[in-house]
Amino acid sequence: MQRLPFRIGLGHDTHRLESGGPLVLGGLTIDHDRHAVGHSDADVLLHAITDAILGAAALGDIGELFPDTDPANRGRDSAEMLAAAAGRLSAAGWEIMNLDCVIFAQRPKILPYRNQMREKISVILGVAMDQIGLKAKTGERVGPIGEELAIAAECVALVTRASAGESA
Ligand code: CDP
Ligand code: ZN
Repeated sequence: MQRLPFRIGLGHDTHRLESGGPLVLGGLTIDHDRHAVGHSDADVLLHAITDAILGAAALGDIGELFPDTDPANRGRDSAEMLAAAAGRLSAAGWEIMNLDCVIFAQRPKILPYRNQMREKISVILGVAMDQIGLKAKTGERVGPIGEELAIAAECVALVTRASAGESA
């Protein structure tokens, strides 16, 4: 198992939405009439990515790294958590090949922000923008996503053995 050159990871996250902006999503602070509620900055996309890369290397999950019972994590920048997870991944001898992500949000339209988000994520992870796939779907106006009570995100991550770790 240890010798397999690839691993895949899956991340999923949901946050409640409440009235009043702005919305922190994909590393951006978006002018919007609702915001995601959470212990940290509630960036559902960065949380799903964090779990996907940790999962690929079986390194646990975001809640283990940054417990929501720790006051130090209140309002924490999710980019910092993602960077920490990327550090763990690399220390374990893995590097990211690609991510593919989906945001589940009735509003706002994600397309206008997509490339800016991909760029933010690529900078945090130290990969090229073309290694980050990102798309969004509405909830077709039904259920918690469609009624704008919640926002969710999913991510799959493929990682490969880092070249420096190949002899291990
Ligand atoms: O057309 P279909 O029912 O498959 O999907 P949709 O949920 O109606 O979304 C249509 C398209 O709108 C998506 O493929 C995205 O390109 C875009 N979209 C977006 O940019 N931002 C969202 N929050 C939701 C959808
Ligand atoms: Zn979250």
